[in-house]
Amino acid sequence: MPKKRLYIKTFGCQMNENDSEKVFLLLADEYELTSHPEEANLILINTCSVREKPQHKVYSEVGRYKELKKRKKNLVLGIMGCVAQQEGEKLLDRLPYIDLILGTQGFYFIKEALKTLEKEKKPVIITELKPHFIPPLVLSNNTSFSSERVTAFVTIMQGCDNFCSYCIVPYVRGREISRPPEDILKEVETLVKSGVKEVTLLGQNVNSYGKKEKDFPDFAELLRMISEIEGLWRIRFTTSHPKDLSEKLIQEIAENPKVCKHLHLPLQAGSNRILKKMNRKYTKEEYLAKVERLRSLIPQIALTTDLIVGFPGETEEDFKETLEMLETIRYHEIFSFKYSDRPFTLAKGLSEKISEEVKERRLAEVHRVQEKITQEIYQSYVGKEVEVLVEGLSKKSSSFLTGRTTTNVIVNFSSPRLDLKGALVKVFIEEAGKHSLKGRYLETVKI
Ligand code: SAH
Ligand code: SF4
Ligand code: F3S
Repeated sequence: MPKKRLYIKTFGCQMNENDSEKVFLLLADEYELTSHPEEANLILINTCSVREKPQHKVYSEVGRYKELKKRKKNLVLGIMGCVAQQEGEKLLDRLPYIDLILGTQGFYFIKEALKTLEKEKKPVIITELKPHFIPPLVLSNNTSFSSERVTAFVTIMQGCDNFCSYCIVPYVRGREISRPPEDILKEVETLVKSGVKEVTLLGQNVNSYGKKEKDFPDFAELLRMISEIEGLWRIRFTTSHPKDLSEKLIQEIAENPKVCKHLHLPLQAGSNRILKKMNRKYTKEEYLAKVERLRSLIPQIALTTDLIVGFPGETEEDFKETLEMLETIRYHEIFSFKYSDRPFTLAKGLSEKISEEVKERRLAEVHRVQEKITQEIYQSYVGKEVEVLVEGLSKKSSSFLTGRTTTNVIVNFSSPRLDLKGALVKVFIEEAGKHSLKGRYLETVKI
């Protein structure tokens, strides 16, 4: 039988990207991927609700398929991910023509859901969140979802127990659960056998990996176990909560040659008053002490961060402290957001909301300060040699290769040979762009 066609559109974070791949793998015996929704028998929209804007995007995306649904009787339209989890059945009020609503654990039951839909001919909704849900092991063959990647995501944890006061994630992803180490190792081994050289371990707070389970390794130990897999060259991970960044983990990053020298360490805000209201459980001083310790052991480490501007009650003074932290820490890159009210969260109920205009201005200010710092840091790579894991041809120009340094900086470079995907090469940096470096190939380190 010819295979049916599946179109998946993914919004949100890397974990959603990883979930989209898993849902495809669960269906791979019956479906092949298409990049044209008009051709699809099944359309899945994997959604994000972390801020209001991405949630709105979902409604407009789904709206696009209303006409298509009318024309194609057998088309199945499904919503998965965080908005599906957040809204559940309520989605049907606004979008009565959807067939599947699969929450952040529900998508694992996609096959059963499709069968039920066929039998009962009415929308199927799976949004239960089980506190002890163990995600089944879904192994990637690394060819059909994206063609023979060199890098891959591996989810090591689900959910979050931190309840930062602005954040919806604990409500839509449920309680923190660590995947069994055997499953993680098996998944990485399978990826490595299929050509993957670098994995990024995913979790809302990877630093608390294993803490809730009796016989699990901690995160530093897990990194060591994964790094023993032969043929795997690089390990990245995200996200690290500053409060759980331990001395043991800092040592492991410093000593383990496979662990990349980059840490994404969300600061969120520079003022202790705001950090407290955010329920982040660290002070600016504690954060700075960890940065100092990291840099004393790993001088070349690149730091990146997330920031929220305009949290309820944030004064100009508070905001200035955020800008000062940027100048002090000098991140490679930052991801900054205007505070957005989210359902269920504590911050939604706070008074002293900041106007859109002020949030806009603070965001622009943050960008202005950081742009200069990023430029200076990127300029400091010019004239130096760096090691790059080649991910393929550059998107901008097919006569260039692209990859990243251990510090997670994108490098586009010219090379006499273009068949170097998957190789670790030395590149001489000639130029700094806005968010990438440009250089030329020097020699191959490993292939
Ligand atoms: N677990 C990760 C990522 C969470 S979501 C962490 O703890 O860092 C990614 C980022 O979105 C957060 O770091 C935060 O900066 C931002 N974010 C989350 N909720 C938000 C909200 N209500 N308004 C604006 N930004 C938000
Ligand atoms: Fe949200 Fe905080 Fe959990 Fe990150 S650690 S997912 S910001 S509650
Ligand atoms: Fe968005 Fe859910 Fe990720 S809310 S950021 S897709 S965990």
